Amino acid sequence: MKTKYRTHTCGELRITDVGKEVKLCGWIQKIRLMGEQLTFIDLRDRYGITQLVFHSDIVNTSLYSREGVLQAYGVVIERESKNKNIATGDIEIDITEIKILNESITPPFTIEDETDGGDELRMKYRYLDLRRSIVRKNLELRHRLAIETRNYLDKQHFLEVETPVLIKSTPEGARDFVVPSRMHEGEFYALPQSPQTFKQLLMVSGFDRYYQIVKCFRDEDLRADRQPEFTQIDCEMSFVEQEDILNTFEGLVKHLFKTVKGIDIPELSRMTYADAMKYYGNDKPDTRFEMKFVELNEVVKGKAFKVFDDAELVVGICAKGAAEYTRKQLDELTEFVKRPQIGATGLIYARHNADGTIKSSVDKFYNEEELKKWSATFNSQPGDLILILAGTADKARKALSELRLEMGTRLGLRDKNKFSCLWVIDFPLLEWNDGDPNVLASLAGRWHAKHHPFTSPKPEDIDLLNSNPGTVRANAYDMVINGVEIGGGSIRIHNKDLQAKMFEILGFSKEEAQNQFGFLMNAFEYGAPPHGGLAFGFDRLCSLFGGSDGIRDFIAFPKNNAGRDVMIDSPSAISDEQLNELHILVKKENHA
Ligand code: AMO
Repeated sequence: MKTKYRTHTCGELRITDVGKEVKLCGWIQKIRLMGEQLTFIDLRDRYGITQLVFHSDIVNTSLYSREGVLQAYGVVIERESKNKNIATGDIEIDITEIKILNESITPPFTIEDETDGGDELRMKYRYLDLRRSIVRKNLELRHRLAIETRNYLDKQHFLEVETPVLIKSTPEGARDFVVPSRMHEGEFYALPQSPQTFKQLLMVSGFDRYYQIVKCFRDEDLRADRQPEFTQIDCEMSFVEQEDILNTFEGLVKHLFKTVKGIDIPELSRMTYADAMKYYGNDKPDTRFEMKFVELNEVVKGKAFKVFDDAELVVGICAKGAAEYTRKQLDELTEFVKRPQIGATGLIYARHNADGTIKSSVDKFYNEEELKKWSATFNSQPGDLILILAGTADKARKALSELRLEMGTRLGLRDKNKFSCLWVIDFPLLEWNDGDPNVLASLAGRWHAKHHPFTSPKPEDIDLLNSNPGTVRANAYDMVINGVEIGGGSIRIHNKDLQAKMFEILGFSKEEAQNQFGFLMNAFEYGAPPHGGLAFGFDRLCSLFGGSDGIRDFIAFPKNNAGRDVMIDSPSAISDEQLNELHILVKKENHA
């Protein structure tokens, strides 16, 4: 790290360096004036903090301010009172000369792990936020994960190939971000939602194993784990079956856990999509804890309780050790499931008390003998709490899935340092689009590819494509860790006719399919190998490894919840001259 400016970093010096003459550079974290004689400065850089000490007559410290940049010369000495909390805490630098390299005005928030800056302020001054070690460490983790990903994939003979960013808009998946062309009036590029078609073309080219750590762009609603531009570890392989892909990328994830976190993870379990929905109401179940769904139609119907009798599905969970929940806590849970985003109409519960008795919120309809049947179905034990929802099957499952996660959190079962990884397999090929707000309205009321339109149906289900498309299963899989969809992929269609059939089912006319995807179907006429792949959400992987729910703090310059970069103020208007060059008409209000 030695340069003309410094001999060491601020995180480097130890007791064994005592006596050395050193030159350090960094930012002023803190200044402490101790009486008239001594001044202490905590000097910070990326590597740590080193304490500087000097007699106040050396310099006029009134010129110094927090976050100013200094160069300090001095000798390493042993500290009288050691600081066990930092790596350099045994030493300090007895300063002989100090230079101000640059001054700083007062920062808008404190550069500490526990800062007084709110979210929006920290985003506006992200370059200062990135000085905080807590944020910097996230980016160091990101770097380490990228390096280890490259190491693993390189050893497995994957080639990193870059694909273009200015591509063509496709009416599938989420909405595209588009870029107007100056040279071609009225025409637009689109930014890739993923390099999907290019990686498939690379397989046609014989590249055999491709990967890329690559930016992707999707104009969709934002959430804590979604950004409009995000990064994938995008991969594709030729001459493989699903099993080969699952093994290769299970290997990658094991390698990352081992090298970055020092954890040996067990072989990944596998769950079908159908089971995930039945037992967890969710295609990305958090399997750090059990609390599986139990269906109760057989047990509860026909006892004159209208809510259950009228419901398509009565389904519940058994929360271990929660029988002593107070009335207030149960009311909170009821309020929780009744929130509009969850949508249940109410919550039924039964306490399996420590003395063995069972008391439900619907005792009027179910006597003790009936409640024992409930208990047997759930296999509840004294001390457990049974929670039940009823309604249409889809809604009840979706709401119970949220309640299960809430109970998991309340009961401390979602430890961020524990990892439960699994493959969810056998996804349906298609889903009916009732009007998904994340895609164009013109795509509503037709089949939509559950993964994407290049995904291969399971060969044994191909016959159902005409008769019952909704039941066709795909050779598609997701990797789910702690309830987060970390990655997903599929075996691809490599036959032109089957690909054309797929576009037909998705409601594309022959001309539309040719116009949008002709390049791919043409390529399939020149010896396309069987192939498949997957992509990991790299930002999500980083936040999972960093023990966080949100991906923003693992991206150097993220967008806020409204999709804005408040630091550079983007998106923003552009000049009329630019608009003119881009052939975009601007409607101006007539103020005349
Ligand atoms: P998919 O659309 O499932 O597959 O995306 C792969 C992974 O990318 C992550 N991801 C996101 N991360 C942050 N912000 C977003 N807006 C966002 N959207 C997706 C998720 C997801 O699992 N081309 C296919 C892959 C393939 O078939 O090989 C694809 O893009 O972790």
